[in-house]
Amino acid sequence: MKKAFLGVVILTTILFASCSKSQSTSSLYVPTSADVTPTATLTDLQQGRTLYINNCGRCHGLYSPDNFTPAQWKTVIPSMAQNTSLTSAQVTLLTKYVTRGN
Ligand code: HEC
Repeated sequence: MKKAFLGVVILTTILFASCSKSQSTSSLYVPTSADVTPTATLTDLQQGRTLYINNCGRCHGLYSPDNFTPAQWKTVIPSMAQNTSLTSAQVTLLTKYVTRGN
């Protein structure tokens, strides 16, 4: 009985650890007024972050915005957006977030 319980605890810990790893949002910057640009308001960036987290981590981990240049993001996002049901307005917000308004 005791052994079985321990097994469940260990398994749950492993599952939780691997799950939280792939869903980690710690590398995703939280927008502040310092990130605002002439083309991206704070609200744009905040909404973009939420859209990114909710739609882009289903098949792979969430890439950090800093992993790619704005030009690279703008090449990748059109094809990736086809994997989601995001509207073009939502894709624009998401793009503003990962490119830091560029
Ligand atoms: C249906 C599954 C799926 C969804 C949803 C998805 N992706 Fe992907 N993504 C992939 C696959 C598969 C690859 C790797 C193969 C490739 O590059 O096409 C990939 C690769 C990537 C890469 C790496 C490209 C590179 O050059 O290394 C980025 C960045 C990316 N996705 C961003 C996104 C963003 C942003 C979203 C949300 C709009 C998203 N993905 C949603 C399947 C998905």
